[in-house]
Amino acid sequence: MGSCKCWCVFVICLASVFGCVYGSPRSEEVTALENFLHAVLPSSSFTSFNFSAICSWEKIRCTEDGIVTGIFLESLDLRGYIPMNTLGNLSSLSELSLYNNSLQSPIPPDIWSLTNLRYLSLSLNSFEEELSTQLSHLVKLERLDLSQNKFYGPIPQQIGQLNHLQYLYLGFNSFSGSLSADVFTNPSLRVLDISHNELNGSLPPQPTNLSNLLYLNLSGNSISGKLPFGLSAMRTLATLDLSNNSFTGDLESLHGLPSLEQVILSFNSFTGPIPLLRSSKIVKMNSNLLSGHIQAVFGPQLSVLDLSSNSLSGAISELVNVSSPLMKHIDVSSNSFSGSLSLVNFTSFTALEYLDLSSNNITGSIPDAIGDSTNLTYIDFSNNMINGSVPQSFVHLTSLSHLDLSCNSLSGDVTELTRLQNMKYLNLSFNENLGCNFALVAAFGMGSFSGVMDCRPAAANITLPPPGSLRKGKINLGIVVGVVVGCVLGLGVVFMIFSVVRCRKKGRWPRHSTLSLKQRVGTFKEDSKFMSGPFSFESNSGPWVANVKNATSVPVIMFEKPLLNLTFADLLRATSNFNRETQVSQGGLGPVYSAMLPGDLHVSIKVLIDGRILTNEVAASEFSSLAKIKHPNLVPLLGYCIVGEERLVIYEFMKNGGLHRWLLGSPDCSQGFPPHNHMYYDVSRDLASRATVEPLPEAVNLSWGVRHKIALGLARALAFLHHGQSVKLVHRDVKASNVMLDEEFEPHLANTGLAGLLAGSEDAMFAGGSPGYAPPEYGQSGGKVTSMGDVFSYGVVLLELVTGKKPIGDTYEDEEGAGTSGCPAINDLVGWIRMLMHEKQSGSLIRALDSRAYEDPISQGQMLEVLRIGYLCTADLASKRPTIQQVVGLLKDIAPNMNSP
Ligand SMILES: *[C@@H]1O[C@H](CO)[C@@H](O)[C@H](O)[C@H]1NC(C)=O
Ligand SMILES: *[C@@H]1O[C@H](CO)[C@@H](O)[C@H](O)[C@H]1NC(C)=O
Ligand SMILES: *[C@@H]1O[C@H](CO)[C@@H](O)[C@H](O)[C@H]1NC(C)=O
Ligand SMILES: *[C@@H]1O[C@H](CO)[C@@H](O)[C@H](O)[C@H]1NC(C)=O
Ligand SMILES: *[C@@H]1O[C@H](CO)[C@@H](O)[C@H](O)[C@H]1NC(C)=O
Ligand SMILES: *[C@@H]1O[C@H](CO)[C@@H](O)[C@H](O)[C@H]1NC(C)=O
Ligand SMILES: *[C@@H]1O[C@H](CO)[C@@H](O)[C@H](O)[C@H]1NC(C)=O
Ligand SMILES: *[C@@H]1O[C@H](CO)[C@@H](O)[C@H](O)[C@H]1NC(C)=O
Repeated sequence: MGSCKCWCVFVICLASVFGCVYGSPRSEEVTALENFLHAVLPSSSFTSFNFSAICSWEKIRCTEDGIVTGIFLESLDLRGYIPMNTLGNLSSLSELSLYNNSLQSPIPPDIWSLTNLRYLSLSLNSFEEELSTQLSHLVKLERLDLSQNKFYGPIPQQIGQLNHLQYLYLGFNSFSGSLSADVFTNPSLRVLDISHNELNGSLPPQPTNLSNLLYLNLSGNSISGKLPFGLSAMRTLATLDLSNNSFTGDLESLHGLPSLEQVILSFNSFTGPIPLLRSSKIVKMNSNLLSGHIQAVFGPQLSVLDLSSNSLSGAISELVNVSSPLMKHIDVSSNSFSGSLSLVNFTSFTALEYLDLSSNNITGSIPDAIGDSTNLTYIDFSNNMINGSVPQSFVHLTSLSHLDLSCNSLSGDVTELTRLQNMKYLNLSFNENLGCNFALVAAFGMGSFSGVMDCRPAAANITLPPPGSLRKGKINLGIVVGVVVGCVLGLGVVFMIFSVVRCRKKGRWPRHSTLSLKQRVGTFKEDSKFMSGPFSFESNSGPWVANVKNATSVPVIMFEKPLLNLTFADLLRATSNFNRETQVSQGGLGPVYSAMLPGDLHVSIKVLIDGRILTNEVAASEFSSLAKIKHPNLVPLLGYCIVGEERLVIYEFMKNGGLHRWLLGSPDCSQGFPPHNHMYYDVSRDLASRATVEPLPEAVNLSWGVRHKIALGLARALAFLHHGQSVKLVHRDVKASNVMLDEEFEPHLANTGLAGLLAGSEDAMFAGGSPGYAPPEYGQSGGKVTSMGDVFSYGVVLLELVTGKKPIGDTYEDEEGAGTSGCPAINDLVGWIRMLMHEKQSGSLIRALDSRAYEDPISQGQMLEVLRIGYLCTADLASKRPTIQQVVGLLKDIAPNMNSP
């Protein structure tokens, strides 16, 4: 006995000495793991990887004798396929995580023989296959995470047999079909997340046994039907997210659930009253059809309440039922609340940061005590019938950055608002009797005071047109003139502020940068004749062209084809001296000509009106860097030419021209739109030169499939600009006329980088995007140009694509009449869609769709989805908009049938 023990000790000692000398013990298992790594590790990390010491790596767990039990190969850029007989051979493996790599399908079947697995994560990879029913062999599984892949098909009901499964994450895949009851009857489940898939059907009628569930997330599917009463058995449930589905019926089965803290039911069609939610901390039920009052159904710990866009009613003073020292965020906008705002006891909302009561039927005045909620950063009371004055106590709201009181009946003086240093957005418009405050007009633009009577005569005092020009209808014309002049002045002020700030910041404007504001205004006037550039000629060639003495000595720089040795003379020849006949459009940046250059190179040449603000050197270097920004959905910049004062940029020609002209509808509708905003395109013009532009086809009918392709391509271009590896660029001027279509109707975003380059130019349009496309924050002081601004403009293009309507100046069918007081009828696309979304009768949304684009109900449904994305992108608040990458993801999930006409 004794000697045997001794032997054993000796053998163990020997083994460990062996281990020390030769590194970790080797075994068939280690070889299998090594084979796996060889197959999937990127070659770059090969050299730095010590294969002889696999088991001593912290990402691998082995037993002493080299049996692999844990693998945590996360975020290592692993690519390709998992080979058979590698991971599948590690029969003792109990934990396997390959989270955040680029592994692909197929998953080798021997993975499903790893019956000792307790934890398996394949999350955030590129697996694209049906989930194997052999999953049921993994009987010890406690935690399964397959989220963020492209798994499709049904969720195997065998998951219900995994009796130890506690955490199941299947979110952000493409699982479809309806949820089987088996998934819902697993008593060990604590977390069930199947969000953002394509599940449909209704929930199984009697889900019981989920007695330990803490977290249930089924958001972002298409599940319909009523909530089964069985949900009321989920006594431990703390988080429930069913948002973005098609649920109907009431919320009775949630009534009194004892542990429910987060209830997120947004964007469904739930009806009936809000149930008793005693433990609630976060409640989001926006965009449903809920009715009834705000009753004392919430818990004392409630901090976020979003009930916007429902059919709730009752006195607004019933907000007392959600008052608590923890309450931070209240949004009850777009309901039918009434009663007096003065009865709301703000003393009991000490922590409140966000308060949106807009679009209700609230009367009375703003109580003084609002000044006690000193943490408020966001207030929106717009579209109500609130009267009285803006209380002095607003000066205490020092964190306030967003204040919208528009479309009410407020009066009196607002001087105290000038003291709020953090204010970034202010809208007081359409309070007829409010006092005008010029400091605020200067800081936030005339738009923030439009419809305020007091602001009008003041503006009109400065430049009244001769009385003879005002014929009959004095009053109306007077107001119109007043508003127009006011707007021009307001824009001017905003623009000047913008320009100066920009000029200082960017150090652009090499020629004028030392001028004072006053001098700049002077320069502007003197220059204006000169500035009109080549596009003002009536004759076929112009002075600036004639002034170029030796055209053959002016080189044209072509980035890809330098050997063509082109000169300005070639451009003159190809455009017949920039003859009007070869002009294809008049963009905001300057006229564009079509030209066929030597070598059968079909290009468009843009003469930048404001190009002269760039010195020759700056222009050359900026154009060269812009040419390096390449993406299949950007119009390629091929070259440039600097000739005298003019800067010409040369782009690849796009056969089907700008998107806007395909959406305008029949030609007779297209007259009268502002030429500055839209390029003109005259179908009847006969372009005799070789470089003809395809005339607009008779029936302007882009099918839904093509429109979707355009939406997705444009989003990809922006995603590349915003989030690309090499570039981080805000386009600043996304609009339909900057979306060029090639022969295949693939979209290409034009003018990338130019708006930024010419930002110092006199054209206020580029200080803040084009009319109808500019996000609200660009018109506000401190409104910075951000990628979220592009997202807004992109959203407008999306809305154009699905509705076929222009962003401004179109007819927007008014269903129920606009705001409740003073507000004008809807006059822009974004406002119109917002109104229709709030009405929430799907009928009215369907009427908004461009009926020329679809024939079948599936396309119609998809267009409604895209309409909703456009609605999200055009949110007033930049922080509420999705990123363009998220938009790409959403659009990719919508796959139109390309065969439909
Ligand atoms: C690899 O690991 C072994 C055992 O730990 C060690 O002896 C060897 O020096 C390592 N090689 C490199 C290149 O780090
Ligand atoms: C993996 O297992 C298979 C079958 O059991 C066997 O043929 C193969 O040699 C093993 N591979 C390794 C590297 O151990
Ligand atoms: C995924 O891995 C990459 C490195 O391959 C890393 O840059 C990125 O931050 C990781 N993402 C997440 C969500 O962990
Ligand atoms: C659910 O989706 C599938 C396709 O994924 C479809 O065949 C089925 O008809 C849908 N069921 C319902 C109720 O919509
Ligand atoms: C608003 O209130 C007025 C009168 O108080 C009522 O006539 C109107 O229908 C209400 N509007 C809504 C949308 O509730
Ligand atoms: C307002 O709320 C405060 C604190 O909750 C309370 O002390 C006060 O009595 C209330 N005032 C009215 C008029 O209800
Ligand atoms: C207001 O905000 C500050 C900073 O976030 C915080 O410390 C303070 O507690 C808040 N006040 C109330 C009454 O919650
Ligand atoms: C505008 O003109 C009217 C009449 O001439 C005058 O009463 C008013 O004070 C002027 N307003 C401003 C702001 O100058």
